[in-house]
Amino acid sequence: MAERESADDVPDPPTLSARHRGPLVVEGRIRLFDTEGREIDISDRKRVLLCRCGASRTRPLCDGSHYRTNFEAEG
Ligand code: FES
Repeated sequence: MAERESADDVPDPPTLSARHRGPLVVEGRIRLFDTEGREIDISDRKRVLLCRCGASRTRPLCDGSHYRTNFEAEG
């Protein structure tokens, strides 16, 4: 299926992919909420990196800590 682009040049619908030994990458406009249901303002971002190693100090966002912890994931 071809990827559609919106007027401001971001994938529409948003896409989600995993980086090898790193975060999940969301490209496109999304709304992000914490575990308490509070919205995290990412309205100025076209791409968001979500931590999947658990070591980030800015969860749910990736802060690069996966390098320090030598994060590995299957698949
Ligand atoms: S995936 Fe980057 S800090 Fe967790």
